[in-house]
Parts: sequence; structure tokens; C-alpha cells
Amino acid sequence: MEKPIIYSAVQPSGNLTIGNYVGAIRNWVNLQDSYDCFFSIADMHAITVRQEPAELRRRTLELAALYIACGVDPEKCVLYVQSQVPAHAALCWVLNTVTYVGEASRMTQFKDKSQKHADNINMGLMDYPVLMAADILLYRAAAVPVGADQKQHVELARDLAVRFNNRFGETFVVPEPLIFRGGAKIASLLEPTKKMSKSEENPNASVFLSDDRDTVIRKFKRAVTDSGSEVRYAEDKPGISNLLNIYCAFKGCTLAEAEKEFEGKGYGDFKIAVGETVADVIAPVQAEQKRLLSDKKELAAYLVSGRDRAAYAARKTLSKVYRKIGFWEA
Ligand code: TRP
Repeated sequence: MEKPIIYSAVQPSGNLTIGNYVGAIRNWVNLQDSYDCFFSIADMHAITVRQEPAELRRRTLELAALYIACGVDPEKCVLYVQSQVPAHAALCWVLNTVTYVGEASRMTQFKDKSQKHADNINMGLMDYPVLMAADILLYRAAAVPVGADQKQHVELARDLAVRFNNRFGETFVVPEPLIFRGGAKIASLLEPTKKMSKSEENPNASVFLSDDRDTVIRKFKRAVTDSGSEVRYAEDKPGISNLLNIYCAFKGCTLAEAEKEFEGKGYGDFKIAVGETVADVIAPVQAEQKRLLSDKKELAAYLVSGRDRAAYAARKTLSKVYRKIGFWEA
């Protein structure tokens, strides 16, 4: 039996946080046995906002190394760099002709980004979700693991797949968004009612996967806590509750177990324990990422193999699309 196909991607922009690790990367790792997984580094999406070229290239490799270091197996999964497979741009062009300007301009993220980058509202920014639909549809993905903020884009991919199929005959698999709800949401250490973000202005609010041990521990020591002194999960204690969520996610224990462990102990001890636990988990990931980045040959070989396997699968779908729409092919 063939396994169902999963597609997901991340942009090589910003520094990944421990929230991305718990909410996304770790889930990808868990999916790779039960699904055929395609994971890409979405550099074509990244350039819809201005990027420093040298930095974009560096981050692309860092991200690929990080995924492998976190346990994404580049032999089991197809891990590749989006721009290396030209079929993405080709299918995006075709899908543009079945996308209405109205629906593209109503996308929440397009509106947000247009405000944030008012001096650079380029065509690519509006086309972003169509390119994302091309990513997903090329690989016949049944499910697309994404954060809640990307759900609308997966819905557009569904609409475009159905529209194309209706117009030209059965071609695309209609994908489902796969939103992880089980994982705890990790909040900012300084404003625990806000999501921990990779583009946060204040570096002390987020813990990055690239932070060294001392930095991690220092950030947790400075985390905002609430009045009171008991380490207990409560709606009206967002600071301590967030730290408990982080502790459990990294320790692999339940809230009840964590509360019991810190019964009678103060916030100070608890914060140090959270910092040490997180640092212990990310240290081996950082070491493996560093090893992969120091020998670029091994990393490049994984990405070339990923590119070839991705291009083969994508080309099959693209040829089918070309046939349906009446493009000539030899
Ligand atoms: N837009 C996604 C994000 O920023 C990244 C992405 C690009 C993606 N192409 C995709 C996610 C295809 C899922 C499927 O998070």
C-alpha cells in the first residue's frame, strides 16, 4: 500500500524559536514513518519580502541542516530547496490563470504584509498563496501540516484544485490542512499572552534554537512571572502557565507531574529547571547542525538527492496539467 503524501515547507527567514520546534519541526519528524513526506525550504516565498542575498543562502543551508539535526531523515523524506525545482514556478503560472485577483487580494496575510511592507507591495506578495498552492498540488499531497495562520492558504489551494479539476477534468488531489492542536502553544517570555515569535524585536522574549546554554538559562531567569509563588497552571497566571507548558513539552511530562515536582519550590528554582531542560534538549540538535554545516558536501548531497526526487514527482504532475490545458509537449 502506498502511504498518503504530506507536503510542508518553511521559509528561510528569521530565526526558529523553541515554539517552532515544538509546534512544527517535531511534528514533521513524527509524521515521516506513516506518510511519504515532502519538505521544502521555501526560498521563492521568502523573496516576496526583501532579503539580503548572502544571508538568504546561508539561512537556506542552516535551515536544511537544522531539520536534519532535529530528526528529519533526508533519506526517508524528500527534503529540498524549492527554487531548485522549476516546476513550482511553472505550475504557479498556470494556477494564476484560474485565480481571481479578488480572492488573492482578500487573503489575510497579503493584507497584513501589505501594511507591514507598504513600500514593497510586489506582485509576488499577492501571488504568494498561489505559489503555495502550486507547491502542494505538484506533489499530490493529501495533507498539509501548517500553523493556524496558513490555513486560509491551504483552503485556497483546495479551491484552486477543485476549480481546475472541474474545468479540465480530474487532475489534482484536493489537500486537507493538518493543524496540530495537541501541542502546547508557546508564548513570549516577556508578554505571555502573545505567541513567541521568530521576528520579535526584543530578543529576550523568544528563545531561539540557536541560543547557547547560558543565553537560554538567562532568558528563562528573566521570564515574566505572575503574582503568587506556587508553580501551578492557571488561566490568570499566563507567565507560569507558559513556563509549565514549555517544561512539559521539553521534559515529556504532564502538567500534573510538573506541578508535583515543583511543589513547595519557588519560581526561581522552577525557572532555572525550565532553562536547563530546554538547553539539554537543544544542545545535541545544535551540535549536529554545526557538524552538517561544517561539511557542506554531505548536506549538499542530501539536498541534491531531494531535489532530484522532488523534480521527478513534480514533473509528472506538471506534464499532466500541460496535457489537460492544451500545451504542446514532445
Ligand atoms: N507559507 C508557509 C509559512 O510561512 C510556508 C510554505 C510555503 C508552505 N509553501 C508551503 C507551507 C506549502 C505548507 C505548504 O509557514
